Amino acid sequence: MDRGQASDHVRANRAVWDGWAEGYVESGRKGWVDDKPRWGIYGVPEGDVGLFESFEGGDVVELGCGTAYVSAWLARRGGRPVGIDNSAAQLATAAAFQNEFDLRFPLVHGDAERLPFDDESFDFAISEYGAAIWCDPYRWLPEAARVLRPGGRLVYLGNSVLLMLCVFGDDETPAGNQLLRPQFGMHRFEWTPSPDIEFHISHGEHIRLLRTCGFEVEDLIELRPPADMTETLYPFVDLGWAQQWPVEEAWVVRKAG
Ligand SMILES: C[S@@+](CC[C@H](N)C(=O)[O-])C[C@H]1O[C@@H](n2cnc3c(N)ncnc32)[C@H](O)[C@@H]1O
Repeated sequence: MDRGQASDHVRANRAVWDGWAEGYVESGRKGWVDDKPRWGIYGVPEGDVGLFESFEGGDVVELGCGTAYVSAWLARRGGRPVGIDNSAAQLATAAAFQNEFDLRFPLVHGDAERLPFDDESFDFAISEYGAAIWCDPYRWLPEAARVLRPGGRLVYLGNSVLLMLCVFGDDETPAGNQLLRPQFGMHRFEWTPSPDIEFHISHGEHIRLLRTCGFEVEDLIELRPPADMTETLYPFVDLGWAQQWPVEEAWVVRKAG
């Protein structure tokens, strides 16, 4: 199956994630140990988000699985996951956790914009800050649609549009209440000096794209920190901001048919 060349951002992000992988081992282990799914930077419990609500088992693909704890959660809930990731170093961590926790499923080194899977191979696709933000939506969403069976669900979580308009991009300065860039035309985000490249598009563009790919939008969930949260966990957005505006958003979409 020849799916063409990797995009420049895929090659750049591969090098970045191979370098960052070591720093994600401990958070990955927490995910593997704790079987109560929590989502996003403030760890919102699954009961308040519902990303697994439509999950009924079957063949699952995690797009940008990283350390693969989300796939582990789905395997423990009766799914047959396959994790795909662009970074060999992240997959090495995932493979080590499979041994440590005695839970194994296929891990594939590849690009979520050019999936090495047949059409209609999966019942459920998921991405938690994987393809959801690191891949070009105009490339990965059609691929996710292609590999899902009719009626299959895709759920994915990443930064909110509003945060992307307010965030400084240096990982340190907290987002303020000013819009720092236009929403019209938002798409590719390159932060200097960091060489990573992310993608975020506006809600109108997003809905039109999903519909073009054959998806029906079932939900757009705006995440809010749990009421008992007292500390800011990531310096780029403080708790006060996250309590007023959605820091993250999760899409639940279904392939028509
Ligand atoms: C923040 S991690 C999220 C994964 C998982 N939820 C975790 O926390 O371990 C982002 C992952 O997306 C992967 N990624 C980036 N671009 C990708 C692409 N084009 N195809 C597949 N995976 C990609 C990275 O290699 C990285 O492992």
